[in-house]
Amino acid sequence: MILPVIMAGGSGSRLWPLSRTLYPKQFLSLTSNKTMLQETVGRLDKLKHTAPLFICNEEHRFIVAEQLRQKSMEHGGIILEPKGRNTAPAIALAALYAVKHGEDPMLLVLAADHVIQNEDAFINSVNSAIAHAELGKLVTFGIVPSSPETGYGYIKKGKTLDNTAAKVEKFVEKPNLKRAKEYVASDDYLWNSGMFLFKASRYLEELAEHRPDILSACQRAMDGARSDLEFIRIGETEFESCPDDSIDYAVMEKTSQAVVVPMDASWSDVGSWSALWEVNAKDAKGNALRGDVLLEDTEDSLIYSQHKLVAAVGVENLVIVETKDAVLVADKERVQDVKGIVSQLKKAK
Ligand code: GDD
Ligand code: MG
Repeated sequence: MILPVIMAGGSGSRLWPLSRTLYPKQFLSLTSNKTMLQETVGRLDKLKHTAPLFICNEEHRFIVAEQLRQKSMEHGGIILEPKGRNTAPAIALAALYAVKHGEDPMLLVLAADHVIQNEDAFINSVNSAIAHAELGKLVTFGIVPSSPETGYGYIKKGKTLDNTAAKVEKFVEKPNLKRAKEYVASDDYLWNSGMFLFKASRYLEELAEHRPDILSACQRAMDGARSDLEFIRIGETEFESCPDDSIDYAVMEKTSQAVVVPMDASWSDVGSWSALWEVNAKDAKGNALRGDVLLEDTEDSLIYSQHKLVAAVGVENLVIVETKDAVLVADKERVQDVKGIVSQLKKAK
């Protein structure tokens, strides 16, 4: 049976000022009236699965619980991290929790903050990955790249296994621009979507081989876990001593057992304002708008207003985001640098 594991521990800092430390991207409604977390759970409706496991920072526990309750969405537990240690430990905690009672479910690891426009294509890819995960493979879902993004992992396809899947010949997490350009020019590479399917036991075995230090810290943290209402509180000091690493560096780059299943589902990780502009509906002049906005002669811009009337005249390719206590005005080509503003704010605190 498939057990969805939904990772909701990211900070989404490039979507400042909408995304905040206390209320990051996965908890916002960015593309519909559902939040990204609710969208993630909702798209599992057509899949046979048990109640999903959530893993998030402990300061967001009530937001997760409340957002699930709002939509009457079930969960199989909400694991709380006292501090984020990135995705390799987060998934290890979920896998350890899942095997606790002698079971070995297949984990469908999902990020709580992705946009997937074609839900049927998503479900089809997951269904065709099951046979490979059953054989003990670590399946990643691959997206045909449309630009040399350096914020993604790249998968080099190896031998074809069946009509959709291929062995992973090489996995390169976040290459530099020169290499990303080479990868996109050849037809041999896909983007890593950051979604995975594997048996819980197989992930733990791979972690034991490649990062035993992470596994043992997570094991100690899970041994010290206690239930608190619907939350699973892990051993705090044990987890804080855990090294910080992503599944991509800790396992996917190192394992020889990776398989890639393509996913043509109009996927985006909406990591920035320009990515959000791409996926949103636009007016005839290419503007994505939300809230009280008036325009004269304005093109290809994203304008979000929460409280005030925002008016723009004679501009193009701008991002303007108005919230209660902050206004962002940015060149749409430079939105990656919003991170710089967030670091300045953190320093100033
Ligand atoms: N619970 C928990 N704890 N969740 C976490 C943590 C953590 O410490 N760190 C990250 N996450 C969640 C984030 O909320 C996000 O949904 C997901 O895990 C992936 O983490 P990111 O930090 O967003 O990773 P990334 O975007 O840099 O890279 C990954 O995703 C790309 C696609 O979006 C990699 O897998 C890349 O290879 C991939 O291309
Ligand atoms: Mg991401």
